[in-house]
Formats: sequence, C-alpha cells, structure tokens
Amino acid sequence: MYKIVKAEKLADMIYLMDVEAPRVARHCEPGQFVIVKLDEKGERIPLTICDYDREAGTITIVFQTVGASTMKMAELKAGDSFRDFTGPLGCPSEFVHEDIESLKKKRILFVAGGVGAAPVYPQVKWLKERGVDVDVIVGSKTKDMLILEDEMREVAGNYYPCTDDGSYGHSGMVTTKIEKLVEEGHQYDLCVAIGPMIMMKFTCLLTKKLNIPTIVSMNPIMVDGTGMCGACRLHVGDEIKFACVDGPEFDGHLVNFDEAMKRQQMYKTAEGRAILKLKE
Ligand code: FES
Repeated sequence: MYKIVKAEKLADMIYLMDVEAPRVARHCEPGQFVIVKLDEKGERIPLTICDYDREAGTITIVFQTVGASTMKMAELKAGDSFRDFTGPLGCPSEFVHEDIESLKKKRILFVAGGVGAAPVYPQVKWLKERGVDVDVIVGSKTKDMLILEDEMREVAGNYYPCTDDGSYGHSGMVTTKIEKLVEEGHQYDLCVAIGPMIMMKFTCLLTKKLNIPTIVSMNPIMVDGTGMCGACRLHVGDEIKFACVDGPEFDGHLVNFDEAMKRQQMYKTAEGRAILKLKE
C-alpha cells in the first residue's frame, strides 16, 4: 500500500497529493509518469509526476476529476492509501541526457495548459537547478483555475500566466501569447508544450509556422502502461508509437492529433456510464 501524506485541493476539480513511494522517488526523472490504482478492482490511472523528494521518498501527483475513478480519488485524504503506485514509467524528457552547457545556450519555451502545469513544473525545476533559465507560459480558463503559480514563478526565468477570460495575466489562449512574445523579438530554439490535446495541436500548428521545434507530452487512454495492450497507440509521422513506452514525449510536429483525439472520444460513453453508477 502507498500512503497519501498530503492531500490538497488546488482549484475547482484539481487536486494535489504527496504519496509515499520511495522506490519511485529514488529512480524517477522529469517527464515520467506513474499508474495508480485505488483498490483491487480499480481502474489504472496514468498520472505524470509533478514533483519528487528523494530523501522523503515521496512523489507529488496532480490530477483533475475527469471521470468516475478520478472523482473517487479526489475523496481520498491524508492517511489513506493507494493499492498500486507503479512507476516510474515512460522515458524521461530528452534534455535529461543532454549536455548542460549546450542546454544553457538554448532558448527554451515551456507552454502549459490547465493541469499541464503539473508535468511542466518538474522539468523547469530540473533545468533551473542546473543553471538553465527558461520562459514559461501557463494558460487556464480563469485566474481561479491557474495552479502552481508560486512554485512556477520560483523556477521559471520568465513566467507568463494567461487566462481565457482575461481575469489574470495575458488575456487569451497560450498561442496568442506565443505569437506576442515572438513579435516582441523573443526567439526560441525549442518549445515544450503540455496540456489538453487540442491545446498541444494548436500550439504545434503555430510553432511549425514559426519554425520552432516542439516536444509534446501525450496523455492518451492507457491500460497496462507496458506496451502490451495497444490502448495508447498513436501515429507519429509514419510510425505507430505507444505513448507508455516510446513516450510520453514526442515530436509535436509529427503527431497525428486528430486521430489521437478521436481515440480519446471513443471512451466517453463508457466513462459517462461509470460516473452515473458512482452517483447512484
Ligand atoms: Fe498499453 Fe501503452 S498502455 S500499450
């Protein structure tokens, strides 16, 4: 069993938990994820690692209630436990293996949408700890939905919040903020975009036009997380990849987002039935 040592509500439908998982905390790197299970018969839920404390042996996860299982998960409190907490899964972000001096010369832009701020945070923190300053755009629907702002301000070189309704920071989508920064003379060698698929799709369409190589972190439905079931398959260029073992990060300019979003929709009806059952 994996004990929850902290459980906190960050915003409407968004929750943070610190979970005791010493083995995962010892080995994980930015970009990787875990699959959690609430109980014996529970659904397997993939979640990106938001932070880790190797000494305390804890992993921080952030999730949004999008279906029956995450709604159930949101009810857990400090002292409760997960039945399974498997990880670290997937490949670490590419820059983890890059030479730090050449990373310092790169102008990197991170773009996070909604809970995408959670997987972006450990990457920006990892880079900051090694003397690499990066720009970070975080978008949310409203000011109240913006998460991890203090944490992000502490590790980002420049931090640009955006809200769809204009209640805080730049008014508009993250893509309009990217355009604005480029118009103002900012130049980027790499963009890392993480968030809802639709946001990653439009960010990639723009960065392709702007000639900025872009990495995205794909979050499709996953079942086993080991490359065996095929649930997370997607087209990247001409190749079929499995997000759980080949990713979750891929060249965003090659990902077939339309197909990936269609596959995600396939599970909507089953999920709706599960939510109704939970409310009975
Ligand atoms: Fe089964 Fe990736 S989750 S192959």
